[in-house]
Amino acid sequence: MATIQLEHVEKKFGTSYAVQPMDLTINDGEFLVLLGPSGCGKTTTLRMISGLETVTGGKIKLNGRDVTWVHPSERDIAFVFQFFALYPNMSARDNVAFPLQAQKVPVDEVKKRVDDAIELLQIGHLANLRPGSLSSGDQQRVALARALVRQPAAFLMDEPLGALDADFRETMRAEIKRLHIAKKATTVYVTHDQIEAMAMSDRIVVMSNAVVQQVGTPAEVYHSPSNLFVARFIGSPGMNLLTGQYHDGILTLPGANRFPVPDDWKKALTRELSSAGGEVILGFRPEAVQVSSLGSIEAEVYASDLYGGFAMLHLELGASNIVHARASRHTSYPIGTQIKFTLDPSMIRFFNPKTELSIRKEA
Ligand SMILES: Nc1ncnc2c1ncn2[C@@H]1O[C@H](COP(=O)(O)OP(=O)(O)OP(=O)(O)O)[C@@H](O)[C@H]1O
Ligand SMILES: [Mg+2]
Repeated sequence: MATIQLEHVEKKFGTSYAVQPMDLTINDGEFLVLLGPSGCGKTTTLRMISGLETVTGGKIKLNGRDVTWVHPSERDIAFVFQFFALYPNMSARDNVAFPLQAQKVPVDEVKKRVDDAIELLQIGHLANLRPGSLSSGDQQRVALARALVRQPAAFLMDEPLGALDADFRETMRAEIKRLHIAKKATTVYVTHDQIEAMAMSDRIVVMSNAVVQQVGTPAEVYHSPSNLFVARFIGSPGMNLLTGQYHDGILTLPGANRFPVPDDWKKALTRELSSAGGEVILGFRPEAVQVSSLGSIEAEVYASDLYGGFAMLHLELGASNIVHARASRHTSYPIGTQIKFTLDPSMIRFFNPKTELSIRKEA
């Protein structure tokens, strides 16, 4: 059981920040994902929590105890890497048992814990094989079992599924989720795959350029991104973003579309932009679009992708402003068709183009 607190934790290499001062509390039993593009500081953050990397400022606390300068082996945290080195000359079972033998845990206890881990990861049939004869997915299962036997207070995982192909990733994703549910161990999991982050986490920390952009549940980062970076990064495709001119309750969008802004947004826009209005960015997810002859926004079908269960329309407003819209697979939308649509008022968001931050509806 572990609560992990980062207080102004930062890392500089030379003069540049790999991680800017960061405040974060990881709750006991939580599955927290660090998500962001390559080079944003995910691995560095994880390594600082583990103690494999020193901090250049701030404090790390484990269950309230300051462990900032405590050796990694004394932090009671297990680290699972993408490329987990198993000992090639030992059987899978001996690989799993190794950390306990190294800690001089009594033989009976080793047997019990190893049996439990092997059972949980369902690798009993592989126990006597050497790593070289296992698939990469099975090797990663053995690696997870080996992390598990230590019964650490927390697990840190750095893209543990990165080396696996798509099918195995899905299977292992479920395995890790099951493991987490069974053990309820605090887990910090690094990925640059936002679908993985959405599927697995209790909360996501979205990072970019060494800076935490948002911390929230998958639903929060998806529906209420705190800034344009998160709006674009989360979702596949990302949030639709259209720059418009707001004046007196009407947002003029590309293609001379006049969109009546819902009443509950008017106060916030006036507050943010000035009473004369001004430029603002409208954001909405593809599923907020409702194609309807009564819609106030006109667009032309630029392309249409069939995804089996639904169609993803690419709609062009004015010159080269494309938005994505989720539509029924039962209607066909030939390229060049003129359509009208409206937006689910509960799903629209606004962003300030200067600060790139989301605009809050409440004062
Ligand atoms: N030992 C080091 N010395 C100097 N710079 C480093 C070192 N380790 C990391 N960096 C730099 O710190 C930044 C963050 O790196 P980090 O490995 O934490 O990113 P990441 O988010 O894990 O990226 P990826 O998704 O590619 O694994 C990068 O700019 C990287 O080049
Ligand atoms: Mg990394």
